[in-house]
Amino acid sequence: MNVLVLGNLGYVGTVLTRYLQAQGHTVTGFDIGYFENCTIADAPAVDRQFIGDVRALPAEIYDGVDAVIHLAALSNDTLGELSAGVTQEINVGGLAASIAHAKGAGIERFVFASSCSMYGRSDGDTPLDESAQQNPLTAYARSKCEGETLLQAATDAHFRPTALRFSTAYGWSERPRLCLVVNNLAACGLAEGRIDLESDGTPWRPLIHVEDMARAMEAVLTSPLDRVGGRSFNVGTTSENYQVRKIATTVARLLGDLPVTIGASGGADQRSYNVDFTAFHTAVPKFKAAWTMEAGARDFIERFRDRFDPADFRSERYFRIRRITSLIASGDLAPDLNRLRALSRP
Ligand SMILES: NC(=O)c1ccc[n+]([C@@H]2O[C@H](COP(=O)([O-])OP(=O)(O)OC[C@H]3O[C@@H](n4cnc5c(N)ncnc54)[C@H](O)[C@@H]3O)[C@@H](O)[C@H]2O)c1
Repeated sequence: MNVLVLGNLGYVGTVLTRYLQAQGHTVTGFDIGYFENCTIADAPAVDRQFIGDVRALPAEIYDGVDAVIHLAALSNDTLGELSAGVTQEINVGGLAASIAHAKGAGIERFVFASSCSMYGRSDGDTPLDESAQQNPLTAYARSKCEGETLLQAATDAHFRPTALRFSTAYGWSERPRLCLVVNNLAACGLAEGRIDLESDGTPWRPLIHVEDMARAMEAVLTSPLDRVGGRSFNVGTTSENYQVRKIATTVARLLGDLPVTIGASGGADQRSYNVDFTAFHTAVPKFKAAWTMEAGARDFIERFRDRFDPADFRSERYFRIRRITSLIASGDLAPDLNRLRALSRP
């Protein structure tokens, strides 16, 4: 399949490119390049790369494409709060343009990277399935709800998109992110020899290894459309719902029994959700997650520790919000995140 990946030069897109190519697909990439140089190791190259902004998306890149994977976004809650308006333009407006071009090119298969963040905070212990009330707490989460609404409205006999509400990602990518709980705690332990939780560690998070995200997207692309087309799925594994304190103690043990400090309150991040993934596993039986949190955290630590400079912990190389605010401060990006010049430095 010739797969167009929008947002291919980020944390997930990097791993997805390697996975799709290993499965025999050809990958065309489109990205503005905010994080292109935020690498810790050589990243895989796509077969054809376009640099541009989803807010001015060229229709030609959809020519000859069999399937679209739309990752491009301001892609976490913190970054989305920088400007709700810009988040809306990129995450919702960019998606609308992508849908229109895909439909114009007659492309039926379209995968949208949505997020379990849309569940926000749920107080019950019962895992949430796809019918649960959406409760977006941030501009980012709202953009995912609106994105799914756009997709539903656009679905017809010739356009059969699938929205994948991913769990929180973790694990190794050549473009690592440390604003993700498992990776953050592992890097914190490596840099500081201890793990400090801001919160009391009680919030729930469903986790998915970044390579299992790629596996899930490829499984959707190669599943019968009558099983996946026009649907939204929670994507993860029910046994991979964890309370943050369990993640912290596991990572601390993997790093040689480091001390863990638990905070007193809920912390700034109000999200807590425990999610049910039965529908996805039923509709896409070929998807089998290869990783558990413990195995993925161990793998991350092994690959990251030799390449990581502890002085770089908290740097713009690893944190989206720091990268973007630094690029605005240096004049590389306008306040509306339009690129003013090539983004060369890490
Ligand atoms: N990482 C997670 O935990 C997670 C969980 C659920 C869903 N998702 C979703 O998966 C997708 C990929 O996430 P990620 O972790 O790789 O994020 P990321 O921030 O690493 O990558 C996003 C990519 O989109 C690009 N992009 C942003 N604005 C753009 C624009 N205006 N034009 C063109 N490209 C633009 C960025 O340059 C970047 O390469 C996102 O849609 C995210 O919301 C991620």
